[in-house]
Amino acid sequence: MVTRSLGRLAANILRRITQCNTAEPTVHRACGLRPRHLHTSAQRRAPADATARSTVPKPSTTRSRQIRNARAVPVSFLIGGSLLASIVALSQYRPPDNPDLNNTLPTPSTDSRDPSLPRYRLADIRKHDASSSEPWVTFEDKVYNITDWVAAHPGGDVILRAAGAGIEPYWDIFTIHKAPHVREILEQYLIGYIDQADLDADGRPPAEAVEDPFVNDPDRDSRLITHTAKPRNAEPPNEELDRTFLTPNELFYIRHHMWVPAVDEAKANEHALTVELPDGETRRYTLEELKTRFPTHKVTAVLQCSGNRRNDMTRHAGKTNGLQWGVGAISNAEWEGVRLSDVLADAGLQVADATAPTQKALSAPPSNNKADANALHVQFTGLEAYGASIPLVKALDPRGDVLLAFGMNGKPLPKDHGFPLRAVVPGHVAARSVKWLSKIVISDEESTSQWQRRDYKAFGPNEGANPDWDRARSIQEMPVTSAITGVWVGDCVRKGRVPWMAVKGIDEDNAQAPSPSRIVDMAAVEKKVGFTPKSSANTSPEPAQQQQQQQQQSHCSEKTPAEPIALQGYAYSGGGRAIARVDVSLDGGRTWDQAELVDDCTPAEGQAGCFGNKSWAWKRWRYTGHLPVLSPLPSGQTPLAHSGGSDCDDEEGRRSSQSKKHCTTLIVKATDDAYNTQPESHRGIYNVRGNLATAWHRVKICPKCTDNGDGKGVVWSTGETYGCGFKKEAKEVRDAMLRQGAGPAAAGK
Ligand code: MTE
Repeated sequence: MVTRSLGRLAANILRRITQCNTAEPTVHRACGLRPRHLHTSAQRRAPADATARSTVPKPSTTRSRQIRNARAVPVSFLIGGSLLASIVALSQYRPPDNPDLNNTLPTPSTDSRDPSLPRYRLADIRKHDASSSEPWVTFEDKVYNITDWVAAHPGGDVILRAAGAGIEPYWDIFTIHKAPHVREILEQYLIGYIDQADLDADGRPPAEAVEDPFVNDPDRDSRLITHTAKPRNAEPPNEELDRTFLTPNELFYIRHHMWVPAVDEAKANEHALTVELPDGETRRYTLEELKTRFPTHKVTAVLQCSGNRRNDMTRHAGKTNGLQWGVGAISNAEWEGVRLSDVLADAGLQVADATAPTQKALSAPPSNNKADANALHVQFTGLEAYGASIPLVKALDPRGDVLLAFGMNGKPLPKDHGFPLRAVVPGHVAARSVKWLSKIVISDEESTSQWQRRDYKAFGPNEGANPDWDRARSIQEMPVTSAITGVWVGDCVRKGRVPWMAVKGIDEDNAQAPSPSRIVDMAAVEKKVGFTPKSSANTSPEPAQQQQQQQQQSHCSEKTPAEPIALQGYAYSGGGRAIARVDVSLDGGRTWDQAELVDDCTPAEGQAGCFGNKSWAWKRWRYTGHLPVLSPLPSGQTPLAHSGGSDCDDEEGRRSSQSKKHCTTLIVKATDDAYNTQPESHRGIYNVRGNLATAWHRVKICPKCTDNGDGKGVVWSTGETYGCGFKKEAKEVRDAMLRQGAGPAAAGK
């Protein structure tokens, strides 16, 4: 055993010397011996071949210290010594068969693999799971002893998830491992092959022998639109998205990069959070301690993925890599937890007051030996190894409202949303609100995770498919955006099918109706649409209206009248900036009007209003008006088939040149209180990752002739959103959207 360990140690030392002298990305970095927290600015500067380097996650901080400690001695000890020769000899040593295992030598006739290496049965491999002192993994038909790799593994102990079984399901998730140099590293730990008796005809272990990393994932609401099942990525349908100000927990969008970690609910209060300060000191808190020792705060805040509306960018500007989200990678909730700044102060963090960045550049470093808050970052790590960071100044901002949250909409955090503890960073991209939070490190560099260094960045439209990943800044505060989530036209408006119009003496029992203080100004609605909307449940149409409806149902006329329309949606800006205005156009941007902003933040009966120091929640808006006169599409044509510029104004600015205008484009754009507003088109903000797709949101709608049973009539359709009469096509578009997002490229982004 001693000889064997020596052999492995020698092989590792030799390998690391070789690797430290090569430009091989991950290992090169792991060989560095610099102190972790105080990197020099030169070290921070991106290397020339940084694009390649950043594709592999860097070592986790604690782990990297262990690696350095382990390496510092042998590297200096070995240089130039004749010991090298003996180490070379030792490195060629092959471990003897493990007498504890029933491994067999191959039968040459059936097994053409290297006969000098032993064969292992799957049952024996399973004994080398995460609890074993010698964890093994399999890849294809090979067996690897990864004992030494665990310490050097850039992703920390996550590799142990695979111990005792196949590593493939994990590499399917962490696709960056599917690179030749990672295979080369793994090959160095090869100890044998899976016994032929445990292999299928294709030379691989049977599917049922491969463990599913997602076994602990919870059940989800069937209304969610699922982009990928494993890991689960799903958004609420438009009709549910902003029906209520606070998105119900079960409909809140889900964005996972991996599996949902298993946490024993009965022992949730024992969940531990480690806080590590710049000097390396650590402090450990249980959830129980966080809940009892610190004041609890509530914050009403949106979480929004940087990929929200990516599908818009794809459709209007070009192919993007990533999940093809619609307008629902955003949701709003009331979070409850303790302030991160309180916990950091308790842990003993001492920093000089943050200054404005420009002053910082001019002034001398703080003289009181306290670390400079401007230069530090809060790195968060989740139980399943996801990691991200925010600047420390955001965490310390007394108005920044960064929470360590354990409650969501008055309930414990659901498993999908971080149970039992998550960071909530209001106003920032949700990628920084790390779920299943287990560790916080205050460091002078950003999190080294790929989600900080690579995925959540945006680029110039000139950068195309190969942007400079390292030069681009990580996304933090979000820009202003908005979306149309519901459209009602013609009879749907007249018959009172718009939920927020079905109030005011007409349908007060309607459970969906907002409280009276939140309804739209009905007098204004009446003035705009020319009539009082009627409840569909208890009102029969006025005789004149009845006649008009019958006419519409029985005859597909050349032109529609200027039909009443109602729209609803959300607007949101990052950084706590309030929404100042929402502009709506019903004619492709030729003319504009303003939407009514729903006052969800003023406390009303049964409603708590909003919590927090800034505008972290979304602003819901409503609009009513009249459409331009349009010519119905011939029966059988769909607006999808009719996409392009000939009938509508589109993002490319193409205007209708035809005498008959079949469709019109509804547009919404929002402006925040800093007068930031949304760009007109996605072409000007195109980036290959499809991040921050915030251009004006457009929904094309078209009347079309249809067979209505007893004759021809007009129906309104849109390929793009939910609304009265639109559901079927909205589904078609969703399906198309999911198809567009399908495939391995989508899963990892
Ligand atoms: N935290 C962990 N631990 N793992 C993750 O995969 N995803 C991030 C962030 N925090 C993620 C995470 C991303 S990209 C987003 S958009 C939000 O969580 C989504 O939060 P939600 O699923 O609660 O909506």
